[in-house]
Amino acid sequence: MRLLAVVVLAAIVAGAAAQQRPNDFNFFPSGAQPDCTNGDCSFPGAWHRRNQTTYKKLGNADGHGVLKIAVSDYYPAGPTLYVIPGAWCDSSGAVAGAGTNGLKPRNSRRRALAEARGPPAVTVHGGANCFITGDDAVSYRVGNNKAQIAERARGGAWKIALPNDMTDGETCVEVYATYDTSKVVTSPPYEQYYEPLGEETTVFSRKVCLYKLTKQADATLKFDMCTSNKFTLNISSISPLPVNITMYDEPLPANLFRPLIKMWGGKVSELDGSPAGEAYDELSSRSEANYIAKYFPISPGYQGGPLSFPLSDKLQEGYYEVSAVVSVITGFPALTNLTGLNQITQDDASGVNSGVTGMYEAASRLIHNATLVGVQKNSTLTTLSAISSSSHAKGKPVEAGDKIVLNWRFRGIGSATCTHDGAAVSNAPRGKCVAPMTITAKDFGGEDTRHTVVVTFTDVCGRVRTADFEYTQRGVKTLTATESLNADGSIRIVGAGLAGFHGNGAAPARAAGGAAALLGAAAALLLALVL
Ligand SMILES: *[C@@H]1O[C@H](CO)[C@@H](O)[C@H](O)[C@H]1NC(C)=O
Ligand SMILES: *[C@@H]1O[C@H](CO)[C@@H](O)[C@H](O)[C@H]1NC(C)=O
Ligand SMILES: *[C@@H]1O[C@H](CO)[C@@H](O)[C@H](O)[C@H]1NC(C)=O
Ligand SMILES: *[C@@H]1O[C@H](CO)[C@@H](O)[C@H](O)[C@H]1NC(C)=O
Ligand SMILES: *[C@@H]1O[C@H](CO)[C@@H](O)[C@H](O)[C@H]1NC(C)=O
Ligand SMILES: *[C@@H]1O[C@H](CO)[C@@H](O)[C@H](O)[C@H]1NC(C)=O
Repeated sequence: MRLLAVVVLAAIVAGAAAQQRPNDFNFFPSGAQPDCTNGDCSFPGAWHRRNQTTYKKLGNADGHGVLKIAVSDYYPAGPTLYVIPGAWCDSSGAVAGAGTNGLKPRNSRRRALAEARGPPAVTVHGGANCFITGDDAVSYRVGNNKAQIAERARGGAWKIALPNDMTDGETCVEVYATYDTSKVVTSPPYEQYYEPLGEETTVFSRKVCLYKLTKQADATLKFDMCTSNKFTLNISSISPLPVNITMYDEPLPANLFRPLIKMWGGKVSELDGSPAGEAYDELSSRSEANYIAKYFPISPGYQGGPLSFPLSDKLQEGYYEVSAVVSVITGFPALTNLTGLNQITQDDASGVNSGVTGMYEAASRLIHNATLVGVQKNSTLTTLSAISSSSHAKGKPVEAGDKIVLNWRFRGIGSATCTHDGAAVSNAPRGKCVAPMTITAKDFGGEDTRHTVVVTFTDVCGRVRTADFEYTQRGVKTLTATESLNADGSIRIVGAGLAGFHGNGAAPARAAGGAAALLGAAAALLLALVL
């Protein structure tokens, strides 16, 4: 039994040795230029034999094909390929079969019967081979442009010169070689199983593709806390989308590159705007308490459309300065000559490996540069407190022209605008107002003349709270009840009306009215503010 196996194996090996591999286009000729060896003649380097055969898992370790490459724009001249054409029928004794370039199985009924086994291999008869027709036998077509004759290079190669102004995106170049096929004979006769060759000549071809990426990657990155109750990164309008590698024009299940988003930042202040208590450090970043550092690799099969990625639940509330970069990543740096190609050496600060460490990124663009973002959990309600006038205590009369200093404090993520008798007043950038705010008392026509100041606080989810002040000659009054949170999350009304205008500001009826809008939305009260 054992002996038999050895004999059979020996027979197979002997058979294989007798077979001659059919020829195909060779895009890695040596000596096509004075200074090139070992198939490293083409430009850019990603077309070198050395680069093309680097990745065994792409199935081109022996350099029998050309893999798609990605290039940036910075050429003094256009990309250039060199090729020595080849055809399955061009040498006596070559054995060609169904997988051979230029040998197409016939669609006959007989073929259908033999489907399971596939058509047989055929051997080219001695002296009955095909041959290339002459000096203008090789031509090429870039994209949809007109085909042009290739120039002769050294060492039996032809030069395929691509323009240096190709548009961004994928461009394929089809390379053609015309062979005299009038004398081809094989055994068994290939015509029984395969499409016939031309009676005079046949054009053999191969298609080589490259992807040009001159622009930086881009994406729209938005922060959202209102929709899913989690601090979420929304991503849309990503470019470029993932691009897959091809071997000639056959697709391979591997990305040449795909987009990557990287986001990082630390907490800078508390919910009420006071500076953040503790600086972030390595330990807190690992615990994701007050520091964000995360990669969001876009999935290999992504074809566009909006994406949402929630961030850690462990993030403390407060304001964060967040930066974000979009780039492309590749696991095949030798095939991608892109701007700023750089190996990623870090993992996510959380210690979670998102699988990008060790890969290469390029074409990066900074989308957010220390953008201020607020993080507030939905269990934390926005509260209003410390509403008062520091210039006019209870009962102090007001004269026209007095400087009145008003105070309030919202604890929550948002910003305020102010009006004085309905007209906008502002003491902060972009028309906003912040406490303390000083206003100048207006004229009083009489005892009962009232002026109002309204502070409108809007959170990023669009909910509104107001702090209302009023002044007459008799004094400044606060009209809005202030609150604080009970341990169970419910709101405790603390009081309103410094001047005692409403008597009992803590009345439950007022709480129901004043805080209703807030409480109604409380279930989704998770706010973010992008200033
Ligand atoms: C990438 O392209 C630039 C510009 O053509 C060239 O100078 C550089 O050598 C190339 N790098 C590789 C790795 O091919
Ligand atoms: C790809 O080619 C370029 C240019 O020859 C070279 O600098 C680079 O190191 C090559 N990359 C690999 C992985 O071989
Ligand atoms: C974020 O994405 C979610 C889900 O697609 C969407 O409902 C929400 O409106 C988006 N938020 C922003 C601020 O774009
Ligand atoms: C590209 O390759 C990835 C695997 O890396 C695969 O998931 C995806 O479906 C491929 N896309 C196309 C269009 O073939
Ligand atoms: C990011 O912001 C900092 C500080 O404002 C500034 O110095 C830097 O130039 C900005 N970076 C970019 C790429 O805009
Ligand atoms: C916070 O949001 C979650 C998820 O939507 C919800 O189940 C929970 O009841 C909310 N909590 C509060 C206090 O509103």
